[in-house]
Formats: sequence, C-alpha cells, structure tokens
Amino acid sequence: MFSPQVSEKEHDEARQGEALVLENTTGKNSGRKLYIESYGCAMNFSDSEIVASIMMEMGFETTGEYKEADVVFINTCSIRENAEQRVRNRLREFKAVKAKNPGLVVGVLGCMAERLKAKFLEEEKLVDVVVGPDAYRDLPNLIDRVDDGNKAVNVLLSREETYADINPVRLNSNGISAFISIMRGCDNMCSFCVVPFTRGRERSRDAKSIIQEAQDLFNEGYREVTLLGQNVDSYKWSNEEGTEKVNFAQLLEMVAIVSPELRVRFSTSHPKDITDEVLETMAKYENICKYIHLPVQSGNSRVLELMNRTYDREWYINRVDAIRRILPGCAISTDVIAGFCSESEEEHQETLSMMDYVKYDFAYMFMYSERPGTLAAKRYADDVPEEVKKRRLTEIVNKQQQHSHERLLGQVGQVHKVLIDGFSKKSKDDYAGRNDQNATVVFPVDSRVKPGQYVNVLVEKCTTATLIGRIVG
Ligand code: SAH
Ligand code: SF4
Ligand code: F3S
Repeated sequence: MFSPQVSEKEHDEARQGEALVLENTTGKNSGRKLYIESYGCAMNFSDSEIVASIMMEMGFETTGEYKEADVVFINTCSIRENAEQRVRNRLREFKAVKAKNPGLVVGVLGCMAERLKAKFLEEEKLVDVVVGPDAYRDLPNLIDRVDDGNKAVNVLLSREETYADINPVRLNSNGISAFISIMRGCDNMCSFCVVPFTRGRERSRDAKSIIQEAQDLFNEGYREVTLLGQNVDSYKWSNEEGTEKVNFAQLLEMVAIVSPELRVRFSTSHPKDITDEVLETMAKYENICKYIHLPVQSGNSRVLELMNRTYDREWYINRVDAIRRILPGCAISTDVIAGFCSESEEEHQETLSMMDYVKYDFAYMFMYSERPGTLAAKRYADDVPEEVKKRRLTEIVNKQQQHSHERLLGQVGQVHKVLIDGFSKKSKDDYAGRNDQNATVVFPVDSRVKPGQYVNVLVEKCTTATLIGRIVG
C-alpha cells in the first residue's frame, strides 16, 4: 500500500456529531491562501486533509506553492531525530519567504508541535502558531489570535477527538485512492516510540461515520480506501448504549461490502493483536487486499521484550504461519529497527534469520534513534555505536532488496488484477497500477481503459521494484 510511513527515504456534515461553527470567520479570510506540507506517516497526511477542510470552512483556499501563500502549515513528525531535523531545515527555507513577506503566518502542526509545545516558539522565532494533533478544531480561534498580532498555541490532547464529522479535503489526490482514519493515538508503550506522547490515548472512530465516508468516496469514483490507525487490529467501537459493538474484523467486513469494486487496505497491524478472525475476513472478500504490514522491529525475543512489544519471536512466527495458512499468497511487509539498546551481534543475526523465514515483500528499515521522554531513553543506554548500527542496517537493507526482488520474480508469469492509478512516471505510453499485493505493475496504455478501472495484466518480467506486463482478457 501506500505505505504508512514515508520513511527515511515517511463535511462539515452535521450528520453525526458536532458541526463546525465557522460562519462568521468565512468572509474575512476570503481570498487568503493556505499551503500545507506533511511529513511522517499516513496519519499525518490524513490529518492535513482534515486541517485543509477546517481552513476551507474558514474561507481559505489551498495552494500548492508556498511562495504565494498567506498561511504556511507544516505538519510534522517526531519519530526519529532526522525527521525533526528535516522539519527544522524546511522552516529555515520558510524564513526567507517571511523576510520578504512579514504578514506570512507560519504554523507547526502535528507530532513535533505536540512534543515541543510552546518551546517551539522560543526555538524557532518565525513560528506563529503551534497546534497539536487533537486541537485542529481550534484553528479558527488560533488564526484569529495570530491575526491580532499574538503567537498562539494549542497542544491539548483529547480522549475523544476523532474528527468523525469532518469531511476531509482530498489533497494531492488522484481521485482513485484515499485514506480513512479509523482511530487515533496509541496505548502501546513500545519503549523506543514517541507516538503515545505525541498522539495521546487510543480511541476508535464511530463505525457508521467510517462506512459513510467509504460510501461517499466510492460514489465520487474512488476505488481504493486504506483504513488507518497506529494499531488497527485493536479498533473497538461501541455506541453509547453499548448495544452495538464493532471490532476490526467486523469493520473490515462492513467496508468491504460497500462495493466489491472498492478495494480495501489497512495499516498498521500490531503482531500482538492481529487475529485469525481478521485473516478469515480477508479471505472471505476478494476486494480486501491480500497485503499486511506487520512490523517485527527485531527478530530476537530479548530485544523485543526491551522494546516492550509484548510478543516474542515465536508469537510473531505463529502469526506469519497463520497468514500463510489462511491467506496463501498474501504479501507481508515490515518495519525493522537496527541497533536498539544493548542489541548484540547474535541478536542482530536473529533479525536477519527472521527476514529469511518470512521473506518480506517490502520493508521500512531504520537505525535506532533515541527519542527524549520515551521509556528506552529513560531506562536503557543507547550503546550500540553509530558505525555498528549503520553496518547492521546495511545488512538488513541488502537482505531485503534480495527478498523484494525474489518476491517480484515469483509473480512473473502470473495474471494479476490491477487497479490503474495513472500513467507510469517514466512514460505516457504506459499505465501504472497496483496489484492485490501492492506491487507496482507497469503495462502499455490501452485506450479502452482508464485510471480508476481494473484490468488483468500478465506479468512478463520485473525490475528490482516493478512488475512489467501487458493487459490480457
Ligand atoms: N504503529 C506502528 C509503527 C508506527 S512508527 C507499529 O507499532 O508498528 C513507524 C516505525 O518507525 C516503527 O514501526 C519503527 O520501526 C520505527 N520507529 C519508531 N520509533 C523509532 C525510533 N525511536 N528509532 C528508530 N525507528 C523508530
Ligand atoms: Fe509506537 Fe508501538 Fe504505538 Fe506503534 S504500537 S505507534 S511503535 S507505541
Ligand atoms: Fe506519524 Fe511521525 Fe507522528 S510517524 S504519528 S507523524 S511521530
């Protein structure tokens, strides 16, 4: 799938719930332009669509050019040190624009805003407004305060906010694939991870609003939705009376029956929570894509315990075996961290042997980066030397490249159902799309079909990252 992590290389519908009360601010913002840039995981990209919706209700238009904007928002990620560094570098570029246009409002949103709070205003003088992930409904008020010449901050986390009633403005959309956020926050305390601090407690969104969003997207011509959460398998919603209860497997089924023509993907699955019920639901519906992102982090049980992942090597292998048994041919991808605190050479070897066991289709691979305030930062020394982390990461990356290529080679000669996303990046003579397993497939344009339609493609060859074929049937 679109992957949830953009890694190193990561209605106003009063229908149900609160409507946005924005009427009196609309006029005064008319003609003002918002530019918004997102970093980090898919949840941040999805949140930017909610922010754009709130700002448009206020009268703003969006622009793809920051130099012509009146308000520039940067939706930030704190997951690793270098993710934060990238944001600071980008803020420096905005500074130059602000020097020429002092009226420009610069806002920092998302996880880094939550982590650093008002400190941001001291550290980065050009920033006018700091807004945490649960405070976007307060934007009309915050922008008013900035317009009055003040700096503004709201980083309150919420136990309830899911923005269920806000209809996201699809930014940079191809009109075919969209994200649907189904939950927020995270209650797992993986010792390396900053997300529970930046995103707050886990909460699930009203199932009915999710189904409605999927239905609306389908009606608008979308053919693929990705259900998003840090830990989708722990999705759990019930109505106030407690008479209706929906778990993740049931939610998947409810979205799958919106239409057999709507592909359903999801991310991320936590190995401790993925159930056979979810796998069986996937098996039952052709349109639930056979692709699971199942981050392992490490192949060694001692390291997994230090990471507080709450599963061990055997448990993870058992879940992979269940996927292979219930969903033959299902693609599996992962996240791996190299050089976590006190990881020995033998323990690193166990990560490599886990990779050999699973033969992942795809992986996001990182060097451990200590994050202030996390359990690992408090309890364990970040004691694997940088060059050792680098070498271990290289070994992991090399192995993955080999496995990804082998997985693609295994699909040569097969016919795959492909949803056409658009033209190939390299040539207007070719279409590009993805198969069920989320591999990119490139094939010559046929004027009888267009993006957003399904075709059967015979895969004839592959590169290291792409399947190449032709339409059949
Ligand atoms: N909720 C998802 C992960 C979200 S963060 C899950 O539990 O799997 C995405 C990935 O970033 C993690 O899977 C992990 O591999 C990586 N990551 C998180 N914190 C990190 C850190 N401090 N250093 C290096 N990588 C980290
Ligand atoms: Fe972070 Fe763990 Fe939550 Fe994933 S499950 S977001 S790694 S704390
Ligand atoms: Fe996502 Fe980064 Fe926040 S990975 S949840 S944007 S810290």
